[in-house]
Amino acid sequence: MKTRICGTGSALPKRVVKNEDLSKIMDTSDEWIKSRTGIAARHLAVEETLVQLAAEASRQALKEAGIAAKELDMILAGTISADNILPSLACELQRELGAAKAVAFDINAACSGFLFALQTADVYIKSGQYRNILVVGGEILSKLMDWNDRSTCVLFGDGAGAAVVCPDETCGILSGVQGSDGARGSVLSCVGRRNNNPYVTNSTALSFVSMDGQEVYKFAVRTVPKAIAEALEKAGLTVEDIDLFVLHQANIRIIESVSKRLKVPMEKFPTNLSWCGNISAGSVPILLDDVNRRGLLKKGDKVVLAGFGAGLTWGASVMTW
Ligand code: ACO
Repeated sequence: MKTRICGTGSALPKRVVKNEDLSKIMDTSDEWIKSRTGIAARHLAVEETLVQLAAEASRQALKEAGIAAKELDMILAGTISADNILPSLACELQRELGAAKAVAFDINAACSGFLFALQTADVYIKSGQYRNILVVGGEILSKLMDWNDRSTCVLFGDGAGAAVVCPDETCGILSGVQGSDGARGSVLSCVGRRNNNPYVTNSTALSFVSMDGQEVYKFAVRTVPKAIAEALEKAGLTVEDIDLFVLHQANIRIIESVSKRLKVPMEKFPTNLSWCGNISAGSVPILLDDVNRRGLLKKGDKVVLAGFGAGLTWGASVMTW
């Protein structure tokens, strides 16, 4: 029995913010951002909440899968920027969709969040415990940015993607690898709310995402090709067998480096970061939906998904579409 993606969906906020727009409010330029990252624009939430974006993406995925929300057994949401600390994004999504019988919870694995949620769904399906699972990855990262820190805020965007997974005899996930390295967590972090109970003295200043860009870059270009190679070996496949590599969209230079290290042409690495930026847990499912809707995935194609991010965390999955 395999776990097959049988429907995808995505939703981006209406407001498009181009690099030129940012250069009017901070000391940056289209040339700097584009040449270092490949990003030209991003969508930022103004009116939208994350649960609204996730619900729109999920309805599209359910429609393509031909599954009603009330048939869902489980909802897993990869996110680090849920609208509320409580309840979770997954539980809010359950309410929005009317998925009354689903078990729902969030997974915090940053940019690997969708991969980790997908691999968790795979284990539940293979065990026979659940059949229909909605896997979501989404973020409103713009609220976690320090808009005075030009080295981070220009990189990220908002949005959500979704996939419905079901058991299938022939097609689906062939292998997966996951990894974490908490010892290096400080290179990409966002401190949470400080304890302010009556017995501690603490500043209540808000914290934002902070990143050692060059360390994250080195981590990504070393870890992603290795994770993909391990997942391929587990699946008994080689890079030549793969039709598409759907990678986390952090930086075009990271994707180019992975393509070079794996000796796979860039044509097999679709991207959306030029108009989406880095949407952390949202980037893989949003890109997957984009290639699915553009008809770039045919039944039987071999696809690799890979994510990496804060934690540090990383994951790769190989599947037959
Ligand atoms: N506009 C103009 N200048 C800027 C900007 C900006 N937005 N941001 C920084 N600069 C300046 C810096 O102040 C610095 O100036 P200085 O030399 O006078 O001190 C100069 O540009 C170079 O800064 P660096 O940080 O050295 O730039 P670098 O070439 O390393 O590029 C980047 C930064 C794009 C973040 C790069 O390190 C990178 O690609 N890192 C990978 C990490 C990544 O993509 N993270 C995304 C999120 S993490 C994830 O998704 C897993």
